[in-house]
Amino acid sequence: MWRSHLLILSIQAIVTLARLINYVDPFIGTEGEVPGTGFNGGNTFPGAAVPFGMVKIGPDLTSANTSINANAGYLPDGDVAAFSLTHVSGTGGGPVYGVVAQMPLATLHGVNVVDNLTYAQPRSQHDQAEVGYYRSTFKNGIETELTATSHVGFLKYSFPRSSEKHILVDVSHYLPLPGGYNQAQAYSNGDIQVSPDGSQYTGSGIYRGGFSHIPNYRIYFCGRFSTPASSSRTFTGPYTDFFYPSDLHAEPTFGNESSASGGPPYYNYGKRVGSLFTFDSSVTALQSKIGISFVSIDNACRHIDQELPHWDFPKTVESAQNSWEDIMTKISISDTSNKMRLRMFYTALYHTHLMPTDRTGENANWETSEPSYDDFYTLWDTFRCLNSLWTLISTDRSIGMVRSLIDIWRHEQFMPDGRSGNANGQVQGGSNSDNVLADAFVKGLQGGINWTDGYMAMKTNAELTPWNNWDTGSPLSSTMEGRGALPDWLKYGFLTPNYDLSISKTIEYSLNDFSLSQVAKEIAPGDYHKYLKRSAGWQHQWDPKLKSLNFTGFVAPLWANGTRDHDYNPAICPGFCETNGYTYEALGWEYSWTVPHDMQTLVAFMGGPNTTEARLDTMFLPGAAGSGVGEAGSNGAGQSTLFNPGNEPSFATPFLYNYLPQRQHKSVLRSRQIVDQYYNDGPSGLPGNSDGGALDSWLVWQMVGLYPVATQPVYLILAPMFERYEMRVGLEGKVLTVTAKGLGEDSFYVQSLKVNGKKWDKSWLSHDDLKDGGSLEFVLGSEPAGWDTEELPPSPGHFVLDL
Ligand SMILES: *[C@@H]1O[C@H](CO)[C@@H](O)[C@H](O)[C@H]1NC(C)=O
Ligand SMILES: *[C@@H]1O[C@H](CO)[C@@H](O)[C@H](O)[C@H]1NC(C)=O
Ligand SMILES: *[C@@H]1O[C@H](CO)[C@@H](O)[C@H](O)[C@H]1NC(C)=O
Ligand SMILES: *[C@@H]1O[C@H](CO)[C@@H](O)[C@H](O)[C@H]1NC(C)=O
Ligand SMILES: *[C@@H]1O[C@H](CO)[C@@H](O)[C@H](O)[C@H]1NC(C)=O
Ligand SMILES: *[C@@H]1O[C@H](CO)[C@@H](O)[C@H](O)[C@H]1NC(C)=O
Ligand SMILES: *[C@@H]1O[C@H](CO)[C@@H](O)[C@H](O)[C@H]1NC(C)=O
Repeated sequence: MWRSHLLILSIQAIVTLARLINYVDPFIGTEGEVPGTGFNGGNTFPGAAVPFGMVKIGPDLTSANTSINANAGYLPDGDVAAFSLTHVSGTGGGPVYGVVAQMPLATLHGVNVVDNLTYAQPRSQHDQAEVGYYRSTFKNGIETELTATSHVGFLKYSFPRSSEKHILVDVSHYLPLPGGYNQAQAYSNGDIQVSPDGSQYTGSGIYRGGFSHIPNYRIYFCGRFSTPASSSRTFTGPYTDFFYPSDLHAEPTFGNESSASGGPPYYNYGKRVGSLFTFDSSVTALQSKIGISFVSIDNACRHIDQELPHWDFPKTVESAQNSWEDIMTKISISDTSNKMRLRMFYTALYHTHLMPTDRTGENANWETSEPSYDDFYTLWDTFRCLNSLWTLISTDRSIGMVRSLIDIWRHEQFMPDGRSGNANGQVQGGSNSDNVLADAFVKGLQGGINWTDGYMAMKTNAELTPWNNWDTGSPLSSTMEGRGALPDWLKYGFLTPNYDLSISKTIEYSLNDFSLSQVAKEIAPGDYHKYLKRSAGWQHQWDPKLKSLNFTGFVAPLWANGTRDHDYNPAICPGFCETNGYTYEALGWEYSWTVPHDMQTLVAFMGGPNTTEARLDTMFLPGAAGSGVGEAGSNGAGQSTLFNPGNEPSFATPFLYNYLPQRQHKSVLRSRQIVDQYYNDGPSGLPGNSDGGALDSWLVWQMVGLYPVATQPVYLILAPMFERYEMRVGLEGKVLTVTAKGLGEDSFYVQSLKVNGKKWDKSWLSHDDLKDGGSLEFVLGSEPAGWDTEELPPSPGHFVLDL
């Protein structure tokens, strides 16, 4: 008996030790080029959450350096102003959320409850984090531990025996944008009610602004304490925000124990409200659970009853960890020789399942039985390889997201490109929901997706000009949804410089229309040819005479009368490539590569395979970008190449060698070089903002040795960075076993490949080759082998305009 008992124990120990979540370091991506600060970092969220959880609970820092935003709440330096339940991960621009908060206080001496600078606390050591768990220790001795379920944040406070014990609930807390400008958030209004026995408080807060200019959204909360407060006092304070600096040092007005309100709801300048809870001095361990809802207080409280009916903190951590282990085991790596790569890999995989936010059953704007997701942040970032990752390994989530996008179209007329706070916002180029839907469609996703509606939603993007929302950062056309520059596209087949970003938007609209063509082929065959032809629109802008760095032929600005801007230099950005130039967040050199649907025409335009190869090589030449590169370099990656590892337009470029005969080995070399140079397992291990997991998904693909061609059922073959892994693909989790014999530090070139036991000599796979599992058997070596002798990857959008 005792023997088998021991055996079970030791198996459990091994299972616990071998948990893949142990490789996750939530601090990867939280710092940038200046160690100990968040400057130019990945802005990843290190707090506690479950996959796609509505609650992402973590600390909110007052910035030690006011030029650094705390986009995910956390910063390595600065003081903790509160712990809040809502965050995004890896974003740039103005922060969003950081709402529904608590702050433990050890004294009220000198504290002004409406001025965080009077109570924010320095930490005595670096915060600790593991999957589903977070701990922060203040210099004043208070320790706060955090964990979460989908809709409930769980806080565990340990106070020093001798201190006072207070919890401050400031409903008007949110993540500020130091320095203000048009992407700042603001508190609009709020209310709070406290139960007579001091054990529960409920209420709501209304907030607006942020990166995507969110109109007012309301979030409800229901907070409970493990020990009732011995006393509480609600308070109000004058409306304050960045634009009202004279009120910044306002004093609170304390009210009664039971309730406070900022004024009539949806009045934008309501009074600040909150409540201060005081606990008996004998209470050293205090716990609190806070449920949130976008629908009602009842929902917020019910989430606690249903998801967290107990006060068992370790059990909650364990259950969060189990839900993450289920994600990690989708790709089980049995080669544990390189721990650094394992930490990079599993942290990246973790980051790819934090966003968007699953709001199913919590749709604030309409009643629906469809799944609801928010915080598409943004599809411009994620369509290139993150959505395709979900489609392959988290297929149920992909289906849910596509259904949610279509449901947004049903009720709000347009699918989003960016969305947060229940509202569309921040289009950066094309209508990339088209690409997300096409990618799912060509890979055969069904699962209750209404593809008739899906195609109608895409067609809305392609045919209906959205109203201009007069974004002060980009006032020429809508940044809220759809394709703002559609009038030029419909009239000329390309965008003139009458619109900003005329080059990058033309390139993106081209791929968007290719996406329509692929869905139309089956759903509306009569439309197929029309959209295929429109997808060649980028060819109008191709200037076959434009020279740069020894190469000829680039996308370049074009007026309706055929005149070009002869000063245009595709190797630099005038100023910053943001909303004011010809291209967004990348150079003309980079955008000249982004027509994955018709590589055949592109290679011909560039002068054939040899010139294309030389040109690709130039993308990775140190110093080629020179000093006037503008956006390149601003991500903290510090590169001097034309290729920018930190922004999405360049994502696929290193692998385009696969489109040249027997040049796959160069894609593998680039993949290795970029990963080794720009990614690591430290806090500054990402070469830019994670962008909701986009950079992380790029890294996951490198390490598994494949790269998806979004909008096509195609994967370019690279070379795995592990000797063996098993990937569970599709809804049924069928097992794909991948082996890489001969892998070594300098041995990574493909010598041969077998797919499902058969010799393979194409540099790509179709989705059908993978979707039922099977095997990929790589043999790797230290020299290129020219194994990729057969058919090049397809160009299903091949169409040459008669110009
Ligand atoms: C703290 O208060 C200052 C001054 O009112 C304000 O500028 C800042 O945004 C606040 N920080 C946080 C994290 O709320
Ligand atoms: C803030 O950080 C940035 C980046 O490290 C630095 O350039 C700037 O000088 C810092 N500002 C202050 C006031 O420390
Ligand atoms: C507490 O104050 C609020 C706001 O002034 C008021 O509406 C409410 O009736 C008061 N409650 C009690 C029990 O006095
Ligand atoms: C798809 O939605 C349309 C309404 O737009 C409806 O007429 C049709 O029956 C739906 N198709 C399926 C398969 O549910
Ligand atoms: C351009 O060509 C010249 C002459 O062949 C060569 O010296 C130079 O290195 C090339 N520049 C680039 C960026 O390839
Ligand atoms: C073409 O149109 C642009 C923009 O309206 C104008 O600046 C340019 O002078 C025109 N060129 C010719 C040759 O008419
Ligand atoms: C391309 O380069 C190869 C050698 O790398 C050469 O054999 C071939 O002739 C070249 N093709 C053209 C069209 O120049």
